[in-house]
Amino acid sequence: MGDMTSDRPRVLSGIQPTADSFHLGNYLGAVRQWVALQETHDAFYCVVDLHAITIQPHDPALLRQRTRVAAAQLLGAGLDPDNCTLFVQSHVPQHAELAWVMECMAGYGEAARMTQFKDRVARYGTDKIGVGVFTYPILQVADILLYQANQVPVGEDQRQHVELTRDLAQRFNSRFGETFVVPEPFIIKETAKIVDLQDPTAKMSKSAESQAGVVDVLDNPASIEKKLKRAVTDAETEIRFDEVNKPGVSNLLTIASTLSGTAVADLEASYAGKGYGALKTDVAEIVVNYLTPIRERTEKWLADEDTLDKVLSAGAVRAREVAEQTLVAAYDAVGFLPGPR
Ligand code: TRP
Repeated sequence: MGDMTSDRPRVLSGIQPTADSFHLGNYLGAVRQWVALQETHDAFYCVVDLHAITIQPHDPALLRQRTRVAAAQLLGAGLDPDNCTLFVQSHVPQHAELAWVMECMAGYGEAARMTQFKDRVARYGTDKIGVGVFTYPILQVADILLYQANQVPVGEDQRQHVELTRDLAQRFNSRFGETFVVPEPFIIKETAKIVDLQDPTAKMSKSAESQAGVVDVLDNPASIEKKLKRAVTDAETEIRFDEVNKPGVSNLLTIASTLSGTAVADLEASYAGKGYGALKTDVAEIVVNYLTPIRERTEKWLADEDTLDKVLSAGAVRAREVAEQTLVAAYDAVGFLPGPR
């Protein structure tokens, strides 16, 4: 960290602590990328608990638990606190402080056009969602700008929020002078599209109706085996990659290929003449072998809360140093008097 990484481009990303475990789709999408980027970038990763309370009502005990679980899983998956800055958003007060300033820079209509916000309104109605759902993207803007991030590794669904970040950063810079780095989106290409084991037409998602089709990173081996054994396939018998006609079998091949590094074509060849049962058994074994060390490391972190909390505190101290410099510059630029901080 520090000098060692200061000439590297900076990345900032965040993940919500809203589930008891990441699932295989999250892992192969975001988390694995985060682990890789700490080697090449000056990486800041944030467990966004402030964002998590926009879904109301929330349970405080559950939020506390899920925040620790999210951090422990990131460490279990290979984030190295000596090689990146891992912290919890609420530990760094500058996020909420800058968010207010950026809310005043954003147009009401501009914020109302955010797709995720519109989806929530369509689904729940304006009386059932809090104001925080509306301002959510602007808190995300603050998350990014505070660290002067060059790149923001996110999935395609977050592109619009990164575009908003760019717009607000440019607006601020042109009104008040160069203050923020204008970040580039770094859209994580889905190297592997992982779909629900029970409904292979839907992406694997924590909001799935049934958990039977979702493999969690923290699932025990028996549960992984059960979920894979029951995976939906098709009425044929041939093991062949064909996403349109054989989405279930194709998903099993994708999972096996991504985790084992064996090309799909080689897998197809090796299963010639074999049945779906054999494929499912093998995929279960591959998944169990892959996830077991991650789960065990995560459990170790969770069993030692003091150490985990210390790592997160150290991350917050480092994050605050960077965030405070940006916040002081932004406050000064808009004309707030210098005061004790
Ligand atoms: N909104 C992001 C998501 O749901 C999470 C997030 C919050 C984030 N702050 C961020 C992502 C800053 C990238 C950068 O996935």
